[in-house]
Parts: sequence; structure tokens; C-alpha cells
Amino acid sequence: MLREFFLNMRRPRGWGGRLMLWSMDTVHGALAQWGLGFLMIRPNNRILDIGCGSGKTIARMLVAAPQGCVCGLDPAPLSVGKSIERNLTAVHHGRCEIKQGDVSKIPWPDSSFDLITAFETIYFWPDLTTDLLEIRRALKPGGTVMICNGMMRAEDSASPVPRFERMLDMRIYSVHELRLALGASGFFDPHVVTKGGWLCITAMA
Ligand SMILES: C[S@@+](CC[C@H](N)C(=O)[O-])C[C@H]1O[C@@H](n2cnc3c(N)ncnc32)[C@H](O)[C@@H]1O
Repeated sequence: MLREFFLNMRRPRGWGGRLMLWSMDTVHGALAQWGLGFLMIRPNNRILDIGCGSGKTIARMLVAAPQGCVCGLDPAPLSVGKSIERNLTAVHHGRCEIKQGDVSKIPWPDSSFDLITAFETIYFWPDLTTDLLEIRRALKPGGTVMICNGMMRAEDSASPVPRFERMLDMRIYSVHELRLALGASGFFDPHVVTKGGWLCITAMA
């Protein structure tokens, strides 16, 4: 029962998924605010938020890019529906497009975005290095990827929450692991900021 509920972090669905999306809005709000503070969003930027959940971070970035466009991608129909509902005006004005799909196959052409963000989602991605390669494909040359996580692994250490990690079939990464994956997928100039267990890393395509 507990596992069923927490699996909604990985793929929100049903009533538990609705509850999880609502609680993520509250719990992840401070982390998203913190992470967004490290970005230089230009008014006309084209941005993609992968694993967009309830679409709250998309709404924040739409404010920062009033002449731009902020898109969202999530495999869960519930997240897609909630993100559209929350950003309906921008969707109607063609400034926001939410698609159902997986980071491994981003349904936009090459060089579509100036910035791609991933808040609290990479834990669940199938293969971080190849997924980052796919992100690089969708970024314009010189574009930025940002990964922002509320949990991190200390270097060469066991998981901070091993039972949770096994239960949800997820992976909590260390800074070193993220640097390696970004380098292996062709990103450069990584910048890392940490605060307690929080981690924010940006790099350029
Ligand atoms: C813990 S929630 C985080 C949601 C939101 N980014 C936030 O910070 O509140 C994780 C999200 O990642 C999505 N997700 C899981 N696996 C994914 C994948 N392979 N590709 C893209 N998104 C994925 C889930 O559907 C879920 O909406």
C-alpha cells in the first residue's frame, strides 16, 4: 500500500497521483525557487521542463520568459493534464505546449530549446548518459541544461535512503556521477551548487 502510494513519485496516476502532484507542489516549491535563482532566463527564451509534474515550475518560467515559450514533457497522462490545466492561458496563446513522452525520445526537433530543466526527475530516467545525449540534441548549440535534485548521494557512499531507492527502482546520484554523465554526453562547463542535501547543476551544450 505504502509502495503503491510512493510509486506515484515515479509515475503519478489515479487518486494517489493527484495527491502526490498536490504535495509535490508544496514540497518541491522551495527547491524549484532555489534552482531557478541560478538561471539567466531571457524574455524570449524557448524552454523545456522534463518530468514537469503538475506544471508549477512551467508557470514560474513563463513569467520569466514573457515573450518566450515554455514546454513540458512527462510520461504520465495525469501530469500532462494537470500541467495543461495550470498553464491553459499560455497554451491558448501558443506560449506553452505540454506533451506526453519520455526523456529518452524527446518529441521535438533538434536544436529546439535554449534551456532544458529537470527538477526532481532524473532519479527515474532509464539511462542518464544517453538521456542527456537526447537532451543535447534538443538544445540549441550553446544552450543550457539544468538538473535540480532534492536528494544526493555522498561520493563513494551508499544511498542516503537505500530502501526507498530499491522500492521505487530509482537512482540517487552524487555530484561526481552527474559530472561524469554530463561530460560523457558532450556537455561542458558544469557549475555545481549544493545546499544541505540539495543539488543544482547546469552545463552547456
Ligand atoms: C517526483 S516528480 C517531479 C515533478 C516536478 N518536476 C516537480 O519538481 O515537482 C517526477 C516526475 O518525473 C516524471 N518522469 C518519470 N520518469 C520519466 C522519464 N523517463 N522521462 C520524463 N519524465 C519522467 C514523472 O512522471 C513525474 O511527473
